[in-house]
Amino acid sequence: MRKSVKAVQMRKVFKAVQMACILALLVGMFTACGTAGSTGTTTSNAQSASGSSVKKIGIVQIMEHPSLNTIRESFIKQLADRGFKDGENIKIDYQNAQNDQTNLKTICQKFANNKYDLIVAIATPSAQAAAGETKNIPVLFAACTDPVGSGLVASLDKPGANVTGTSDAVSAEKIMELAKRITPDIKTIGALYNSGEANSVSVVNNLKEYASKNGMTVVEGTVTNTSEVQQVAQSLVGKADALFLPIDNTVASAMPVVAQVANAAKKPVYVGADSMVKEGGLATYGINYPVLGQETANMAIEILNGKKPADIPVKTMDEMDIYLNKDTAAAIGVTFPDDVVKEAKQVFGK
Ligand code: TRP
Repeated sequence: MRKSVKAVQMRKVFKAVQMACILALLVGMFTACGTAGSTGTTTSNAQSASGSSVKKIGIVQIMEHPSLNTIRESFIKQLADRGFKDGENIKIDYQNAQNDQTNLKTICQKFANNKYDLIVAIATPSAQAAAGETKNIPVLFAACTDPVGSGLVASLDKPGANVTGTSDAVSAEKIMELAKRITPDIKTIGALYNSGEANSVSVVNNLKEYASKNGMTVVEGTVTNTSEVQQVAQSLVGKADALFLPIDNTVASAMPVVAQVANAAKKPVYVGADSMVKEGGLATYGINYPVLGQETANMAIEILNGKKPADIPVKTMDEMDIYLNKDTAAAIGVTFPDDVVKEAKQVFGK
């Protein structure tokens, strides 16, 4: 008898433990589900526009060049570091337009038709194409030099529509001040750029203003695609004491060619971005692109969490640094002043 009472009690205890285990399991499952779709910084479980809880992000990049690749990689890494991981709680569709306007349009149309939750457009031509395809899906641009001048936003503080992002605006004046410290005798500056890139046009306009105030002359050499760069660079080095390259996608993707032509003519090339120094330009006073990529990702997270691009000011980078290339300096017989080298964030070359 006693035994059987004990047995019944034992069974009861066992049942209770079993129930507790099941409960614990259920609670565990719920918590797991709750965290899978969220991160340390967000708890949003909102459904995506496409109807699934995995948000779809289309990344469109105008072409391959080191700077744009850096931005994209840094963007994706920052998203992941903040808990937005491709293939887990977000789906990233990266498309490169291979420097072709028709491709750009097709890619952006596809992103819009498939109702992606966010379109990230790297560089001005991609952003213009994306903004042209949708008025509802948020378009987040990365590294657009002049977002107002290129028609992407109404103003930096109040973008106004479905488009916002980060700007890599640089100062032609600061680059020229640096140029004068390195090569004080330059008078005629050859501006090499694609006149179809709004991002370049605005910087060259600033260069012209600077030149007219400082007794310098600007001669222009414009291209419409990468294959023209060599010939136009060749003609410019014959007319100018130094070349000036704004943050131009077309010219940047042919940077080694420009460096070759300029080095042969022993002319300094001042550029708008560190990657262009790394690939043979002499110097720049430029922004930090990995940081720009991170800032773009931070804005992406705000948008994924429900904030409207219209209410998110464009982010500009205030920190600028000197980048130098000592191989190029050696090739053209220029010596960097000690104070410039001391101030430099990075000196490329052997
Ligand atoms: N600022 C360029 C634009 O508005 C894009 C860009 C970013 C770029 N980094 C660069 C261009 C480096 C040339 C070189 O389109």
